Amino acid sequence: MSEFVRVSEADGVMEIRLHRPERKNALTHEMYSAMTAALSAAEQTPSIRVVLIGGTDDCFTAGNDMVDFLNNPPQGDDAPVMRFLRKLTEMEKPLVAAVNGPAVGVGTTLLLHCDLVYVARGARLQMPFVNLGLCPEAASSFLLPLIMGHQRAAELLMLGETFDGDKAVQVGIANAVFDNADYWQQAQAKARQLARQPAASVRLTKQLLKSSINEQMKAHMKCEGDLFIQRLASPEAREAMQAFMEKRKPDFSQFD
Ligand code: COA
Repeated sequence: MSEFVRVSEADGVMEIRLHRPERKNALTHEMYSAMTAALSAAEQTPSIRVVLIGGTDDCFTAGNDMVDFLNNPPQGDDAPVMRFLRKLTEMEKPLVAAVNGPAVGVGTTLLLHCDLVYVARGARLQMPFVNLGLCPEAASSFLLPLIMGHQRAAELLMLGETFDGDKAVQVGIANAVFDNADYWQQAQAKARQLARQPAASVRLTKQLLKSSINEQMKAHMKCEGDLFIQRLASPEAREAMQAFMEKRKPDFSQFD
């Protein structure tokens, strides 16, 4: 377990909350492993019907920890981030997410694997993989075009701009926008409502919703993961991460 990932259970719902506010809940290897362990525990515990994923009140997550990525990049399929992403795609029980503040990188792409997604008005989503010299991950280059069409997916992935909760609903990433003050309680109420539904029926419905694309999606995610790991070692990515840590804009002009 990790002090930065808080896990609790109430009314049939396991809550997994990222809690590393001083780093905007940026995800380290240790945090990925803790989340994977929590998801596995949820699958194995009959009293848990639903998993609700969130961050701190005003921040979902700033995505991968840049320092961790620069100093200790994931090496292959067994890396904690890869194991976490695979676990997300394999979950039989439903996943609900509640998002406020920044949801960067995997903070947005993990939402594509959730069954219900609720965003606060203050949510700021972003997939800046290209901005960082990387490429999409978590099957986002497979799922986003399916959800919203090629052009809208290309815009979000290639320009890597921040977008708000209303846009997340408009493009089909989120179900609803709630006020900042009670978004967590609203999402919690939805998760508890889902937990009261007949569990086997909910699981079967999830399976049916996903079965036609699951194998293709997993194969695509594996391919993205291999390319992502290669890109992490690229000069553009190293420049982008270095620039972030030095609080300056990256300079990609020297790269073809
Ligand atoms: N990895 C490591 N540290 C991070 C981080 C990350 N992904 N995101 C934020 N931090 C750190 C900052 O360096 C800063 O540290 P400092 O207090 O020592 O300066 C601290 O967390 C607070 O972040 P700050 O940028 O000051 O907060 P903000 O509210 O102005 O902006 C974000 C929040 C999330 C928009 C901004 O931090 C950001 O863009 N982070 C990078 C996101 C990213 O590119 N993730 C990787 C995707 S693959």
